[in-house]
Amino acid sequence: MSVNVHPVKPEWKAKGLIDNDTYLAWYKRSVEDPEGFWAEHGKRIDWIKPFSSVKNTNFNTPGVSIKWFEDGTLNVSANCIDRHLATRGDQVAILWEGDDPSEDRKITYRELSEQVNRLSNVMKANGVKKGDRVTIYMPMIPEAAYTMLACTRIGAIHSIVFGGFSPDALAGRIEDCGSDFVVTADEGLRGGKKVPLKANTDKAIEIAEKAGAKVRNVLVVRRTGGAVAMKDGRDIWYHEAMDAASADCPPAEMSAEDPLFILYTSGSTGKPKGVMHTTGGYLVYASMTHQYVFDYQDNEVYWCTADVGWVTGHSYIVYGPLANGATTLMFEGVPNYPSPSRFWDVVDKHDVSIFYTAPTAIRALMGAGDEHVTKTSRKSLRVLGSVGEPINPEAWEWYYKVVGEERCPIVDTWWQTETGGILITPLPGATDLKPGSATRPFFGVQPQLVDNDGNVLVGATEGNLCITDSWPGQMRTVYGDHERFEQTYFSTYHGKYFTGDGCRRDDDGYYWITGRVDDVINVSGHRMGTAEVESALVAHAKVSEAAVVGYPHDLKGQGIYCYVTLMEGEEPSDALRKELVAHVRSEIGPIASPDKIQFAPGLPKTRSGKIMRRILRKIAEDDFGALGDTSTLADPTVVDDLIDNRQNKK
Ligand code: WT7
Repeated sequence: MSVNVHPVKPEWKAKGLIDNDTYLAWYKRSVEDPEGFWAEHGKRIDWIKPFSSVKNTNFNTPGVSIKWFEDGTLNVSANCIDRHLATRGDQVAILWEGDDPSEDRKITYRELSEQVNRLSNVMKANGVKKGDRVTIYMPMIPEAAYTMLACTRIGAIHSIVFGGFSPDALAGRIEDCGSDFVVTADEGLRGGKKVPLKANTDKAIEIAEKAGAKVRNVLVVRRTGGAVAMKDGRDIWYHEAMDAASADCPPAEMSAEDPLFILYTSGSTGKPKGVMHTTGGYLVYASMTHQYVFDYQDNEVYWCTADVGWVTGHSYIVYGPLANGATTLMFEGVPNYPSPSRFWDVVDKHDVSIFYTAPTAIRALMGAGDEHVTKTSRKSLRVLGSVGEPINPEAWEWYYKVVGEERCPIVDTWWQTETGGILITPLPGATDLKPGSATRPFFGVQPQLVDNDGNVLVGATEGNLCITDSWPGQMRTVYGDHERFEQTYFSTYHGKYFTGDGCRRDDDGYYWITGRVDDVINVSGHRMGTAEVESALVAHAKVSEAAVVGYPHDLKGQGIYCYVTLMEGEEPSDALRKELVAHVRSEIGPIASPDKIQFAPGLPKTRSGKIMRRILRKIAEDDFGALGDTSTLADPTVVDDLIDNRQNKK
């Protein structure tokens, strides 16, 4: 495959904060002298008590332990708000664009301060204390950011659950972290459609309380004004409580290693894991990557289109940008409402300089036709970003040429919920770009490729992507299950953090992420454990067994392909297919909707009963010429039936 290299343009280098020589020098120092490097960059945020210890980390099992700046103390909301008030009180902190193009709000740093202080007092008055877990299930409205920041102000740990998740999924997360305070809204609004957030919350609490959880209060923001039930003594209207609260709440002094937030993410086995991030290292890393990766410069408008329900929203809508005193745009809606020009209309309306989105959105807009882009100006754009899944070179070139008119470098940023911030990425003024490659490691990040036996691979090669040493933004544990943390990330390749991704390194030392090598699939940039979809399917009364794999999907990156074995006496039908799709949506949420369901009388298993997913993946891809060795199957004849009834015939 020939690669179309786009060298750094002189104007990118001239404007950029970091040029290539600086990148190389800083990178070298960051890996040769991590203590010195991070001692210096740790000072980019305000500490109440300065740290003297910089790095105290161990990747060896058992006993994995990750601590950064551990004797320092600080407060995140003070860093994101208070420290900017003297110089930026009247600057817009959050620029909110509603689902409906006629709605927007501009919240200055001074206003942000008032709202967050009041909300902190509301939460305190309702019994929320340092270390308590607060579940946030909200639409993309400024109140979501206020709630995150208010938690950090009083030292509560937030756990945000994406508004597209079902009551069942929400219940599981409330239960797992023992959260007794939930913040939600009456309804969300996306693409003109209402999402019943409060009703879902009520259902979730009912489910969670049956399992032994206890939710004391639900704080409800009025967003649409739709009718909702309010439970006496438990539910509180946000606007009423805010009016009564004082606008002065001193920030709590937190240790660098106090938990900041929990965010649930899917893995290859079991239920979602509560990824736990802590205070000091996370903020240093989120703010530093936000500044250098996006080349953020004073007074620019920066827009990340993610939802705060994902880690991208945590690090690059709220914490990174606000710690840097940026103007961060928060968008309630979707890319194609009211038209496929929406993103570019918003860019023009608010003079957006830096725009960060996902390949799935880029591919969808590419499919809608260039005219939706070209009729807009986009002259304010300076830097474009991509995140969530590998971007195919065709979509990359379209983004570069049609959206950016070859004026804007594209930063293809590779990272994970677990990494807290971006690990592999170009820097706008420094890195020659290759479409489809996340290029080179950020400062302090040491990638390594290993084969399946753990042998280290050198030079141009392909293997499993590990990181050999810690960086400040790294997750610290799985909430309530440190052993699972060690098991999942540090036991496959002893003493290394294993990412779960496959990766190629080329002759220039550039990294090309090839996708997950475990049983995790990436659907429209959203991570989904195949085991989760399987357990949702087998929870249906008519299903006896299920196996789920990903397959290449033009728009979503990967689609969800389900092999389903029915209970004795049940007949396959299209109606049952629809029933199963609806069932999975209600168990997990719309993002887990199966794309294909194949009824299979038998699944390919080894004699010991292990499902051979390799075979199922090939059939789902319609690539069964290369099935490989099937001789170890208990019953090789099931394969013929699977092939005959495949749902993806080309
Ligand atoms: C997985 C992490 C990090 C925020 C969004 C997703 C894939 C992410 C890229 C990229 C290729 C990417 C990986 C990774 N991924 N960014 N630029 N190129 N793959 O966070 O839900 O934790 O998913 O997304 O497979 O492991 P997440």
